[in-house]
This record gives sequence, structure tokens and C-alpha cells, in this order.
Amino acid sequence: MDDFQLLMKLHIEDERQGPGGLAETRRAIEFAGLTTSHSLKIADIGCGTGASTLVLAQELDAKVTAIDLFSEFLEVLNTKAQKAGLKNILTKAISMDSLPFAQEELDVIWSEGAIYNIGFKNGVNLWKPYLKQGGVLAVSEITWLTNHRPKDIDDYWSAAYPEIATASEKIRILEESGFKLLGYFPLPISCWSENYYAPLQSRFSSFLEQQGNSKEALQLIEMEKNEIELYEKFKDYYSYGFYIAAKI
Ligand SMILES: C[S@@+](CC[C@H](N)C(=O)[O-])C[C@H]1O[C@@H](n2cnc3c(N)ncnc32)[C@H](O)[C@@H]1O
Repeated sequence: MDDFQLLMKLHIEDERQGPGGLAETRRAIEFAGLTTSHSLKIADIGCGTGASTLVLAQELDAKVTAIDLFSEFLEVLNTKAQKAGLKNILTKAISMDSLPFAQEELDVIWSEGAIYNIGFKNGVNLWKPYLKQGGVLAVSEITWLTNHRPKDIDDYWSAAYPEIATASEKIRILEESGFKLLGYFPLPISCWSENYYAPLQSRFSSFLEQQGNSKEALQLIEMEKNEIELYEKFKDYYSYGFYIAAKI
């Protein structure tokens, strides 16, 4: 099993595959000014098992195309949608850098904790043509909360994701790319600790058992533990920022 498959297997049982929360998805919907007064065409990109997709499909009058690289995540989402009686979600197992939409087809592009896979600036510019004028881009992205921070955490994130930056820098990129900011908020600690890390941690030992304590599985869990430890120690310095912007 390759590293990606192993990562997928570790995360597939969780409600979400990254930091976030239902309240925060709803807050971003409010910032975006989305209501049920119009029927909307939405893409949820890098949706995982669909924590945000389900909120969008349930609470708006929308057709939601949910996109992820892993068909296994999308199968889980399809089952959840079926259980909830939702018929307005279409899943597509494709890469976020080759989207299947026509120019200006979408009212909304949503993406929680996933745009980093192709880089924030690249993703914003790559996805923009698919949005109608006035259409909304809502993305969450790892963000420095302070302009200065301890060297250890600066080194870690600068190596893991060199595009990590403060909110003002991310907002400048959005503005330079032809977007008008509608709202920004950093995800609270609960989105990391309670919603993401706690359920993940609770399954570490069963996952290792399932994987026969393979070297690869042990390495993956060590990596996850290290990430969690760093978050606990340095959570004052970074979070995901939720950026909501309209295409000018
Ligand atoms: C951190 S998870 C976030 C998932 C979900 N949005 C959430 O908040 O729970 C990132 C997601 O991006 C997906 N992904 C990674 N690279 C991708 C690509 N090139 N195209 C589409 N999805 C991708 C992963 O499979 C994963 O589901």
C-alpha cells in the first residue's frame, strides 16, 4: 500500500479530514451572503467525506458537485447523502487541477483545508475562470496568526508548506487575483482539538493493529503525533483562516 492509500485509510472513518466545524461552515455561508433565495451551482473541492458538502447541500438551494482525488472518500459521502435523503450532490473523483466545469459556470467554489494541495495562489487563479462574475470563493487555508513566531514552528511549516503566510498576505493575493474580500475569520481551537485531532487520536491503536504494526503505519502515526504535539505547543501562532471573497 502506498503512502497516500495509508493516509486515506487512517482518515476515512472520521467526520472530517482536516480542521473545521459545522458552525464555521455556516459562518462562512453567512459571510458569503448565500441564502435559499437563489438556486446555486456549487463545487466543493477536496471535499473528503463531505463534512462541508452536506451542510451546503442541506442548507442551500443548491446543486453541489463534490470533488476529491479519493473515490473511497466519495463513496462514504454518497452513503451519507443517501441516508440524509439528499439528491443534490454529485461526486466526482478527479484532481482539483483539472476541473470539469465550463467558464463562469459556478456560483460558488467551496474548499475547506484542501487548496494547499495545488498551492493557494495557483488554486485561486486556476479556479477563478469557473466562477461567474460576483461568484463566491470560500476557502480555508493554513495561516500564521502572528507576524513573528518561535523558530521551531516557523521552520516546520516553512518546510512543510512554504506558502504559509499571514491573513493580510493571503488577502492581498486574493485582491491581486481579482477578488473582493467578503470576510475572514481564523478557525477556533475547537476545530482542531475537538473536531479533528481527538477523533483521529482515538483510533491510532486500532489503526496500527489493523495494519499489522507495519513500518509505514508506525511512521505515519509518529508523523501525526508530531503534528498534534506541535499544534498543542504552538497553537497561538497558526490556524486555518477562512477566506470568503467575490469575483469582481
Ligand atoms: C485536509 S483534507 C480536507 C477534506 C475536507 N474538505 C474536510 O475539511 O474534511 C484535504 C482533501 O483534499 C483531497 N485532495 C488531495 N489532493 C487532491 C487533488 N489533487 N485533487 C482533489 N482532491 C485532493 C484529499 O483526498 C483530502 O480529502
